[in-house]
Amino acid sequence: MKGTFKGFRKVLFVLASVLVTAKADEHDHNYDEKEEVVLWMNTVGPYHNRQETYRYFSLPFCRGKKEAISHYHETLGENLQGVELEFSGLDIDYTVDVPQTKYCEVTVDEEKLRAFVYAVKNHYWYQMYIDDLPIWGIVGEVDDTAKPPTYYIWTHKKLEIGYNGPQIVDVNLTSDNKVQLAEGPISFTYQVIWKKSNIHFKGRFDKYLDPSFFQHRIHWFSIFNSFMMVIFLVGLVTMILLRTLRKDYARYSKDEDLDDMERDLGDEYGWKQVHGDVFRPATYPTLFSSLIGSGYHMMLVSLSVIMFTIWGHLYVDRGSILSTSIFVYAATAPVNGYFGGGLYSRMGGKQWIKQMVISAFLIPFTVCGMAFFINFIAIYYHASRAIPFGTMVSVSCICLFVILPLTLVGTIVGRAISGQPNFPCRVNAVPRPIPEKKWFMEPSIIVLLGGILPFGSIFIEMYFIFTSFWAYKIYYVFGFMLLVFVILIIVTVCVTIVCTYFLLNAEDYRWQWTSFLAAASTAFYVYLYSFYYFIFKTKMYGLFQTTFYFGYMGVFSIGLGIMCGTMGYAGTSAFVYKIYSTVKID
Ligand SMILES: *[C@@H]1O[C@H](CO)[C@@H](O)[C@H](O)[C@H]1NC(C)=O
Repeated sequence: MKGTFKGFRKVLFVLASVLVTAKADEHDHNYDEKEEVVLWMNTVGPYHNRQETYRYFSLPFCRGKKEAISHYHETLGENLQGVELEFSGLDIDYTVDVPQTKYCEVTVDEEKLRAFVYAVKNHYWYQMYIDDLPIWGIVGEVDDTAKPPTYYIWTHKKLEIGYNGPQIVDVNLTSDNKVQLAEGPISFTYQVIWKKSNIHFKGRFDKYLDPSFFQHRIHWFSIFNSFMMVIFLVGLVTMILLRTLRKDYARYSKDEDLDDMERDLGDEYGWKQVHGDVFRPATYPTLFSSLIGSGYHMMLVSLSVIMFTIWGHLYVDRGSILSTSIFVYAATAPVNGYFGGGLYSRMGGKQWIKQMVISAFLIPFTVCGMAFFINFIAIYYHASRAIPFGTMVSVSCICLFVILPLTLVGTIVGRAISGQPNFPCRVNAVPRPIPEKKWFMEPSIIVLLGGILPFGSIFIEMYFIFTSFWAYKIYYVFGFMLLVFVILIIVTVCVTIVCTYFLLNAEDYRWQWTSFLAAASTAFYVYLYSFYYFIFKTKMYGLFQTTFYFGYMGVFSIGLGIMCGTMGYAGTSAFVYKIYSTVKID
């Protein structure tokens, strides 16, 4: 009820601002002289736990006198990321300097004192926005040399705002006037200084980007390294393909020159022996085809979001990458149905509705399940990360009324177009027994080893991605990310093809799951790496942050695993079709 009311109020507010104040404001970033500029307070939280955030006013800070709309949510993505902007009440007008002015006073009692001391002790930072530019400031300072330690709070905010014509292009915050925390009144002051600046509006986010971190030599080196790996692996796969195929072509053309040893190799044992079994459907076809469908879907979403971000500089807008991802995910749901449903039908599955439902909800359920779980903890901690009920309802509605029907469409099309088995070899009625083989040819070992090289090609990028998500850095090198993504695809496909070739040569025909899992094990290594990162690269602490970290890392790894698994399976599948289509069955 309250949510509806808020929503209604927001609609009214938007309408009112369109009708009445049809003039410049923060939505188009153009200001007139003396026009109101809003300072929004966002969150406060421990510096080392970037994702553990609380409402700014959850600390007993006070507001300025000016009245305005108190809540302001714009997009689904912002809601999900715990952005909760509240008006600071500070009076700021465009290009009007404000001398040091007291804006409010807090009467600190025992309880408020405890809250402030706790915040200062845990290095709390707060975040504000002015015209969509983020501003960070520190709450206070501890003097550890004194016994007992004394706690100070910064009470003066000096805002230096750079403007270029009608636009705000730069903001600096200086905290000043340290006051020792004690019971009694504490007054807060602010000051605004406007400066002409030469920075262009388009480049105003550049100072938040950290080229010396992201374009460090390590980054280039890692790309180069992965690139060499790609060349090596592609060479290896080409060699295997050429070798097998050449032999076959030689045999078909009844080439008598083929020496005896080669003929023996090709015919008496090896991958050709299992031609009657390779196209036997995978075990658990429902789950398998759902995973593959979801994998294709996610691959498309990741690629499109990376492209959109490169193209539209989405990283400068709060929550817009997340909103875009959700939108693209929902809109491309037919892809999931097409690939999953088609594969299920080719494998002879009959319960296609069940398969479709599993396929449609596999990823949303994993993500929402984890989000739900973390939400409980967030609510317990009163963190601003708690996802509002209305947002949960809208996400569920998207799942039910957009993703499910679109997946259905995809499934029907997939079954119609690619639902007929078109295997180059017939499947024998009786499965062939799988011969004993060396321990390192067992699928479980192949699966474990398969992920090492793909992980090796991405782990440095993982470091950059993790750091931007868990520390105060804006990830903006999406070009790198795209390159690494492409390299990951190539490496994964090559590695799984090689793995599958060895497996089939050992006359083991269970290649579908093996190739999927061998590629997916990359994500297992990424998850292990996240433990290393947590322990050695961050200073996170506390139940909330730890659950949040490992929960979302788990979700990320599962997603990555399904995606890599699908790449591996897709590549291997093409390879298997190719080599068996040359087999002549006597
Ligand atoms: C903000 O700080 C930077 C670095 O100290 C400085 O170059 C810039 O001019 C400042 N901007 C404003 C508006 O004062």
